[in-house]
Order: sequence, then C-alpha cells, then structure tokens
Amino acid sequence: MTPAPDRVVVRAPGKINLSLRVGAVDARGYHSLATVFQAVDLYETVTATRADQLSLELTSDVPGELPLDGNNLALRAAELLRSECALDLGAALHVHKQVPIAGGMGGGSADAAATLVALDRLWGTGLGPERLRALGARLGADVPFAMLGHTALGRGNGADLTTVLTHGEWTWLLAVPGGHLSTPAVFRRFDEISLASGRPLAERPELDERQLQALSGGNIELLAETLHNDLQIAAFALHPGLEPVVEAAERLGAPAALVSGSGPTIAVLVQDEAQAREIAAGLMRDSLAQTCLVARGSAPGASVLEES
Ligand code: C5P
Repeated sequence: MTPAPDRVVVRAPGKINLSLRVGAVDARGYHSLATVFQAVDLYETVTATRADQLSLELTSDVPGELPLDGNNLALRAAELLRSECALDLGAALHVHKQVPIAGGMGGGSADAAATLVALDRLWGTGLGPERLRALGARLGADVPFAMLGHTALGRGNGADLTTVLTHGEWTWLLAVPGGHLSTPAVFRRFDEISLASGRPLAERPELDERQLQALSGGNIELLAETLHNDLQIAAFALHPGLEPVVEAAERLGAPAALVSGSGPTIAVLVQDEAQAREIAAGLMRDSLAQTCLVARGSAPGASVLEES
C-alpha cells in the first residue's frame, strides 16, 4: 500500500457554455437545462497540504475580489467531504486562480472540483470519480462538469452529463468587461422576461443537434451559427456593458460571440490566436473590456498534477 501523501496538487478547468437552453423550474428551484459545456485551458490549481485545521489562501492571475468567506466553494467542498466521511482532519488549501472571478466561467465550481479530488487523495477517502461527482453536484450544478472536463452535454440542472465528441481544437477570446452578475439574479430576470413574453417554458428544453455536428466535424462556421445562450437577454438587461462587447467582437470579424453562462464574461469564438489578439486590441482600445484572455478548448477535467 502506498502511504497517504502530505501534499496533493490538482487543477480543474474553467468552462464556456456553447449553448444554454433554459426550461421550467423543478421542485428544487433549479431550471431544467439543455447545455453544452466546453472546458478551456484556464485552470484553478488547488494545493492541499496536511494540517490540523482547515484553512484557505487564494492567489490570482485575474482581476476581481477573491471570495474568502464561508461561501467559498473550496472550503464548502472540504467541509462536505469531511462530514460525509465522518472525518476529523484538516488541510491547508491554497487556490491559484486563472479563471475570471464571478464571470460565468465556473471558476468557483472548478475550485470545488479540484478540492474534492485533492482531499480524496490527501485524506485517503478513496471515493473515486463517480462518487466525487455526486458530492460535487450537491455544491453546485457546474461542479460535476469541472471534474469531467472536455466537452459535454448537461441535462437536468446541468449536472447530468454525457461526453460529446469533438474534432480539433477551438480558440476563444474571453473578454472580461468588469462588473459582476449574480447567477440567481440572472435566472430571476430570465423568468421575468419569459413570463412577460407569455410563452411557457419547456419542461425539457431542446438541444440544437447541429451544434453536435459542428463539434464532431470541426466546423467553425456551423459552431458559430449554433452558439446560443437563453440567459444572454437577461444578462444584457442587468449589465449594459455586455451587448456592445458582443457587437464589437462580431464587427471586428469574430465568427460569433456570446455571454458565457450567466455572465458577464463574453466568449468570442475566433479562427486562431492572431485573430484573438486583433479583436482583443480593438476591445481594449474602445474600453469595452477590462481584461482579455485567450484560451483553447477542450481541456481535461480535474487532474492530479503532483503528489508527495
Ligand atoms: O448550482 P449553483 O449554485 O451554481 O446555482 C446558483 C443558482 O443559480 C441557483 O441557486 C439557482 O438560483 C440558479 N440556477 C438555476 N437553474 C440551474 C442552475 C442554477 O435556476 N440549472
């Protein structure tokens, strides 16, 4: 038997929703979704070190306020694993962030996913991927995807996942416009807009099958046509800075751009890194974005980098 490690380093990716179709609310208060997630190579890296108490330290490559309180998903993940396994162990957690904070790219979910995988090793609980994903789902709808990675269809509240076949690599420019959007507030505004339109929400929203064809065939034009986010209209209503970014990115030649998840990060699909740099320069020149990042998808889910 290998001895339990004293230190485990795990990274988990941020995500973009290539499509996000929103249906009716279920008994738990979650909206039923048909969404296609793609993990990108911006990672949250969690280092878990043996310690008597639970503690958390954050460092970041991206601007934004770091949530260090009891709502922090890394701490909540550690507390959940500890109580599920009836343990009385501690760990010093260090989270290094590359995913825009509170930006609709699942950075907090990636923190939770990486923490669960790291502590499952450090504490020797040995739950393995499936049971960790089920635990992750209790922390947030996007946590299981941060564990699985690559590209996947999400059903239910987003946590019921099926991997999607993709061909080649996709390049994204991520424009961070500044400001903050709360996910529940964006869903609430979406409900208000739907109610006012008089159209009832589907029990089970439909997936655009052409998006799966675009992904398996590596067809960027078809992917551009099928990028879609039902929450975008609500995000635009709550944050007036977003629609101009989408319009400018497309005017500057991007095949397509959309709000990522509940926003406010804008995901711009580009042909290559050169186009990403050109569009980023245009957005920064017009002060439409605070930060621009280039990322590639798909990226792997939560994986152990080091163990000692
Ligand atoms: O699961 P997570 O904590 O990320 O969700 C945050 C909030 O977003 C939920 O409490 C809910 O208000 C909203 N949400 C939703 N339907 C989903 C996912 C999230 O209404 N499928």
